Amino acid sequence: MDFILYEVNGAVGTITINREKALNALNSQVLDELNATLDAVDLDAVRCLILTGAGAKSFVAGADIGEMSTLTKAEGEAFGKKGNDVFRKLETFPIPVIAAVNGFALGGGCELAMSCDIRICAENAVFGQPEVGLGITPGFGGTQRLARLVGAGMAKQMIYTARNIKADEALRIGLVNAVYPAEELLAQAQKMAGGIAKNAPIAVRNCKKAINEGLDVDMDKAIVIEEKLFGDCFETEDQKYGMAFFLDKNKEKVKEPFQNK
Ligand code: CAA
Repeated sequence: MDFILYEVNGAVGTITINREKALNALNSQVLDELNATLDAVDLDAVRCLILTGAGAKSFVAGADIGEMSTLTKAEGEAFGKKGNDVFRKLETFPIPVIAAVNGFALGGGCELAMSCDIRICAENAVFGQPEVGLGITPGFGGTQRLARLVGAGMAKQMIYTARNIKADEALRIGLVNAVYPAEELLAQAQKMAGGIAKNAPIAVRNCKKAINEGLDVDMDKAIVIEEKLFGDCFETEDQKYGMAFFLDKNKEKVKEPFQNK
């Protein structure tokens, strides 16, 4: 891999977009490598992912403008599909993904962060969808995910005006969950990921599926999705262990890690 770093610490995997000279802009190769990295994650061992960008300045400064500058209509559509396919893989990835946004998250960078389950950012983070200033629409899901995350009115304002927003505003509108000093960001992401990884992994995965799939349908269908995933948990050893541990009155007992079974 030229542009992606992948490292596993315990049950937490960290993916770093590593194209610092171009502020981690997403060209086709970066997208292909991100796709291959996701395919290679060992889902038996890794229970949560962190996604971040190399360097102190940028998470991802967008899709690669040089590469896009000469695309035809058909090539533009294909490039959009390439990004959308990888981002959708991330969004529906079986385990949670935390975006640790360490600077610019513009265009495809904001879209990448929005494909993750949870976003936290550094104080220097900048978010925006500047595409209309380049003569294009957001192309990796921005028109859809921004509206779902912050509401149609705010999404339309951000996209039509192409105005960037800073971390405090991103927090205020619900685009990120928390803002940290830059030097604390990764440690905070690790802490959150570690907390997620300690919980019963099949239950966590089922929660992700229930929330994602439930949001796409009406409430009557959504609660049925939840019921089925809730029911599935009762076939797991982790449910039997988790509940037996709670009910055991022996105060000396020590909780064992969940087995992912
Ligand atoms: N594509 C390609 N290269 C990029 C890039 C991008 N999106 N963003 C930054 N770079 C490159 C710059 O060209 C520059 O390269 P050189 O050193 O070879 O000149 C290098 O990264 C450093 O960038 P700057 O010199 O511009 O750094 P700066 O600190 O002055 O500005 C910035 C930082 C405000 C983020 C500025 O780089 C910028 O505006 N970048 C483009 C942001 C953008 O418009 N993103 C959206 C792209 S469109 C998109 O993403 C479509 C989609 O939805 C799929």
